[in-house]
Amino acid sequence: MAQRKGIILAGGSGTRLYPITLGVSKQLLPIYDKPMIYYPLSVLMLSDIREIAIITTPQDQEQFKRTLGDGHQWGLELSYIAQPNPEGLAQAYVLAEGFLNGAPSAMVLGDNLFFGHGFPEMLVDANARPGGTVFCYRVQDPQRYGVLEFNAAGGVDRIVEKPVSAPSPYAVTGLYFLDETAPERAKSVQPSARGELEITSLLELYLADGLLNVQQMGRGFAWLDTGTHASLLDAGNFVRTLSERQGQQMGSPEEIAWGKGWITRDALRARARAFGKNEYGSYLMRLTEEG
Ligand code: G1P
Repeated sequence: MAQRKGIILAGGSGTRLYPITLGVSKQLLPIYDKPMIYYPLSVLMLSDIREIAIITTPQDQEQFKRTLGDGHQWGLELSYIAQPNPEGLAQAYVLAEGFLNGAPSAMVLGDNLFFGHGFPEMLVDANARPGGTVFCYRVQDPQRYGVLEFNAAGGVDRIVEKPVSAPSPYAVTGLYFLDETAPERAKSVQPSARGELEITSLLELYLADGLLNVQQMGRGFAWLDTGTHASLLDAGNFVRTLSERQGQQMGSPEEIAWGKGWITRDALRARARAFGKNEYGSYLMRLTEEG
């Protein structure tokens, strides 16, 4: 089987965060000390994925290229795909068909933040599994998300996008491991009432074929929202609280690349020097001095 490739979906106009997002893409806003997209990028890296396409609006693409480059600084191969109109998450698979070139994929939304003990193991496990794997998480406001409907046997019957009345408190998070048939399946998805190719419709195709694996992220996990001014600030405070308490970074591509042996000590040192004026740079410099 071909190596799994990654997709980060970072399109959209971020209207809920206006006026901040009038001039800058939402996924480049800070979550404490790093751009938001570093966190979902780290999720793909922890899944052992090194070839990644970033989907953005045509006008924001330059900003992302300036922030992330071609990925060599992390031992990655990054490429960029423009999404002219945000017509739904499932559209990403159609846009990325050429990039995927028959490979299975892991797609993560550029504004989703995950943190939890055992997460790296969960990701490596999902990477190795056939069919599709999604992650569900209990939330207080499921009607804002794709929601799972369970049957009496505990299996999943349906996945409903933004239901008025939620069939369960379990939302499907923005991280999708799908096999190589995703682009083909995505083409058969019909637009929903709000005119979008819904990811939940694509997932239901996998479900109908008995190919969808649903993993629960338990209460020890954090799946954070960054969609409003308040939740954006909360996410930043969460990262600050944890990293200051532990003296360890969350969502550092440099640290992950170094840990996986994808970059040399010299390459890590070069990054540390580039950020030498702040605590993030000092943190990376300390890593170069460890074994
Ligand atoms: C999208 C998906 C939804 C999913 C959510 C996760 O919603 O459509 O199924 O639960 O991402 O963040 P949106 O962000 O487009 O409102």
